[in-house]
Amino acid sequence: MNVLEFQKMKDERRKISMVTCYDYSSARAVAESSVDCILVGDSLAMTMHGFPNTLSATTSMMALHTAAVARGASSKFIVADMPFLSYRKGLREAMDSVHELMSAGAHAVKLEGVNGHAEIVRHIVDSGVPVMGHLGLTPQSVHALGGMKVQARTDAAFKILASEARELERAGCFALVLECVPTEAAREVTKLLKIPTIGIGAGPGVSGQVLVYQDLIGLNPGFKPKFLRTYANSFEIIRTALNDYNHDVKAGLFPSENESYFESRSVEQSVAKESPNGGNAPVVEGSPASRVTVASEMNQ
Ligand code: KIV
Repeated sequence: MNVLEFQKMKDERRKISMVTCYDYSSARAVAESSVDCILVGDSLAMTMHGFPNTLSATTSMMALHTAAVARGASSKFIVADMPFLSYRKGLREAMDSVHELMSAGAHAVKLEGVNGHAEIVRHIVDSGVPVMGHLGLTPQSVHALGGMKVQARTDAAFKILASEARELERAGCFALVLECVPTEAAREVTKLLKIPTIGIGAGPGVSGQVLVYQDLIGLNPGFKPKFLRTYANSFEIIRTALNDYNHDVKAGLFPSENESYFESRSVEQSVAKESPNGGNAPVVEGSPASRVTVASEMNQ
């Protein structure tokens, strides 16, 4: 996937699938899936850090998570969110933030709204960095919007949405997220634009969909907005696994013989003799070993 492929998919009426992702182990699962691309969304302030909204995300937080995702899903196209106010304090600050996110492994950045920062969007695009726009419910403006509400429900609000979408396209955005807008409004905007639209709570008439990873796999049990389809009951699966583990520990059923090491004095002594650190820690040469490699070394 790359920016050209986004456009091609819209032109060929093929739907784009995107999922948020914030950490290495989830990124490995996404990497092995057929989902087209990843958003390291500033929703990580909520899903990963427990804040009540996205305003607490910072550029360094976004960069840390982006780097972890890039290590886990190096084959996927990664869009990183520019956090709250990072593109509202002037060009220098915005470009520093873009620089940090791209250096962390993002292939594009996303920012919310357009009023007052169309020139910054244009500058980022002209600097060779693809920009994804985001209109409709823009969570960084939660207080100005009076809450997390569906947007563009009136004719007047639709006209503003359509004109802002055109402005972002003119500024050079390669795609546009439409969050929580009525199906018809999203369909109309998608028709008005050449670039693809990615919906979340925007109905089926858009070029693709994005969902938050934790919501999609059912890790966020209390959260049930109308637009969400949950594809697994991960919270329950994990809770059951933890309870089973606790039971086995308390009952003395874990570890079993098969899960325990046994003495082999001659091997131990020769490891101690050959190893520069006396055999106290595994010596791993070359590039850092993955946990899979480390596990295979621990199988004897
Ligand atoms: O931060 C995020 O997860 C997002 C998506 C909801 C589009 O911006």
